[in-house]
Amino acid sequence: MRIETKSTTPYEDQKPGTSGLRKKVRIFQQPNYAENFIQSVFDAVEGKAGALLVLGGDGRYHNRAVIQQAIRMAAANGFGKVMVGRGGILSTPAASNLIRYYGALGGLILSASHNPGGPDEDFGIKYNVANGGPAPEKVTDAIYARTRTITRWLTVDTPDVDLDRLGTGAVGGMTVEIVDPVADYAALMERLFDFDAIRAMAVGGFTMAFDAMSAVTGPYAHEIFEKRLGFAPGTVRNGTPLEDFGGHHPDPNLVHARALYDLMMGPDAPDFGAASDGDGDRNLIIGRGRFVTPSDSLAMLAANAHLAKGYAGGLKGIARSMPTSAAADRVAAALGIPCYETPTGWKFFGNLLDAGMATICGEESAGTGSDHVREKDGVWAVLLWLNILAARRISVDALARDHWARFGRNYYARHDYEGVEAAKADALMAELTAALPTLPDTRFGALAVAAADSFSYTDPVDGSISANQGLRVLFEGGSRVVFRLSGTGTQGATLRVYLERYEPAGGKLGEETPAMLADLVAAADAIAGIARHTGRMTPDVVT
Ligand code: G1P
Ligand code: ZN
Repeated sequence: MRIETKSTTPYEDQKPGTSGLRKKVRIFQQPNYAENFIQSVFDAVEGKAGALLVLGGDGRYHNRAVIQQAIRMAAANGFGKVMVGRGGILSTPAASNLIRYYGALGGLILSASHNPGGPDEDFGIKYNVANGGPAPEKVTDAIYARTRTITRWLTVDTPDVDLDRLGTGAVGGMTVEIVDPVADYAALMERLFDFDAIRAMAVGGFTMAFDAMSAVTGPYAHEIFEKRLGFAPGTVRNGTPLEDFGGHHPDPNLVHARALYDLMMGPDAPDFGAASDGDGDRNLIIGRGRFVTPSDSLAMLAANAHLAKGYAGGLKGIARSMPTSAAADRVAAALGIPCYETPTGWKFFGNLLDAGMATICGEESAGTGSDHVREKDGVWAVLLWLNILAARRISVDALARDHWARFGRNYYARHDYEGVEAAKADALMAELTAALPTLPDTRFGALAVAAADSFSYTDPVDGSISANQGLRVLFEGGSRVVFRLSGTGTQGATLRVYLERYEPAGGKLGEETPAMLADLVAAADAIAGIARHTGRMTPDVVT
């Protein structure tokens, strides 16, 4: 094998956070660009000699090119084996499973999640470590530091690997195995869930629409829902991964998965509707005539998870991100288990899952998962819902009403103000931060402020502190508004305002959400001066 050393210049770029490097395709296509990042990863991680690396992506434009680059570079950097999903395809949770199951050193996942794909759209690379989760900050910091000093990258001079043929070959001195991207993941799902019960429900006439959004979950959904569980052909919509996701945003929310929402609210709605995002880690759940907020979904799954065989022993704890509604807290209290409130971002769940302190976790942004992998998992959430519905033999709507009757209801919405001038968004946050101490005991209509703070998290496992994670205004009775700036937006600043109204059991449980949140919307503007600072009268996106 001939190892080639290519000289390069360091680049200083957007600091790769835990989600790795995310940029326009054209930037990734520049000579040395992707190679610089991959070599920086390989330089930063220890134990490569003879180790296994998992490699795959969501199938978006440029996926195959970077997979070929990464295979050659892994060979030149001394890896013993690379395991690649056929066609370069691996959903993010499936990649996490492969890393864990086969004891890999880590994995490179190529995705820009729910962002659009295509020659003029987004691409991304992230590195996951041996527990299957995104690299922790000390690793991403080391990768970033390396991108600023790197002078060469290593590769081998070999032809492209045939990514579409299953089996084992060699590149340089390294083994390359092309694996079925679905098989091990589907086997894991069969261990966690009662496929016989779900199949009986499907055969008995229960219907579903799953929108794969022309993204990575298509092959997983066809195999699991249609082939193994017996849902009718056609249950999976947009089930072929396309390089540009058919020109859509593969983001399963009420804006981009509108067609599914309209179907589920209309006269021809199947019993159950769901969707997942570009790389398969997010989920959207809608019953016939009943949208389930991600926060409610987390609470409802936690309350019923013991009905699935993988969770029959009960949950050790629940974790939710701070802006996620407190619905899960009430379930945890009823179960007598802890509920952890973490900053936004999946990485904060990793320590709790590794330490066995939490079993199930979720975010308001449509991410739900458990300790079965170290990523959120869209298809998993759908299967847990199906397992619960099969065990309880009720509809989504009936389950939701039953849940609220027991725990009360957290009406919830997130208002996003996108592309706000950064200086204006910063001024809003600074002014509100300064005003927080003056808020307790003030009133906004019927709402009385009980407490207000800037959220800070001390990790119970490693003691690390993450401060400034969002501004919380808590009202008496359990309602609240939260303000934070997005960490993932690409243009200007995105202000997120999270609105939550709690109605206790016996209260108004069957109302429409906008009406129930109207006074909180007004209070949020009065408290933060959203219109005054941004000039915006209404949010760009409501989810
Ligand atoms: C958003 C979501 C957050 C999620 C992240 C990555 O981050 O709000 O829950 O973990 O994307 O998918 P944000 O843009 O709010 O920082
Ligand atoms: Zn995603």
